[in-house]
Amino acid sequence: MKNIHLSQIETSNYFSDIYSKNISFENMPWITWAVDIDLLNNVINWKFNNPLKIFEIWCWIWTESIFLSKIGHKLTSIDLSKDILKLAFMNSNIYWVNIDFKEFDITKNIENQFDLGIYDLVIDRACFHHILPENRLIYMSNVSKLLKSNWELYIRWFSDKMSPSISWDGPFRLSENDFYETFNDLFWNIKINYYKNIPAPEKNKKEQIWISFNASKI
Ligand SMILES: C[S@@+](CC[C@H](N)C(=O)[O-])C[C@H]1O[C@@H](n2cnc3c(N)ncnc32)[C@H](O)[C@@H]1O
Repeated sequence: MKNIHLSQIETSNYFSDIYSKNISFENMPWITWAVDIDLLNNVINWKFNNPLKIFEIWCWIWTESIFLSKIGHKLTSIDLSKDILKLAFMNSNIYWVNIDFKEFDITKNIENQFDLGIYDLVIDRACFHHILPENRLIYMSNVSKLLKSNWELYIRWFSDKMSPSISWDGPFRLSENDFYETFNDLFWNIKINYYKNIPAPEKNKKEQIWISFNASKI
């Protein structure tokens, strides 16, 4: 499939380019102002005795980080793009939450960049499906280093049951097998769920089919 991921540089250029052009949310095809329905269902199952330490990969503007902070969790959120992080920071101030935002490329060496082995949850929505196949293992290894043993990765991506975009560009469509191939060695207790685009992005009304995975670090 042809896609924007001809190289990791192109992926980051793609996002930096969009974000630096005087951001208009209406023109971002993935915009949705609501928290993902699958996240809401999962939140109910997370252990709530204590606030969780959550690491969000590719936070984009704010939606899920701010929601999770508002209900009491402690968030570290990263994105490639400095521009989008500035905006995320401004929005976290509007919502009176304190999130540790950091510019970081998750396909780079994570040692000395973050405290390792301290997170209860690593979450990712719509991010792994931008990662090139050759960078998937470093992604997995970084996630595993961030997490405490027995704690969880929660990841959502476009399913291979969803049709490609009309122009055949955009994120990869991935299968359950892609998860097993990448994460099987260091993760277990895997729960899989398929769901449709609820809430739908305001712009792009095309049906999206997502898969979510919950998996514990060995
Ligand atoms: C489609 S958005 C998804 C955002 C959000 N999680 C959501 O569900 O709406 C993808 C984001 O990933 C960021 N990104 C792309 N490649 C990255 C990388 N290698 N490391 C960190 N962030 C990256 C982009 O800057 C962009 O903000």
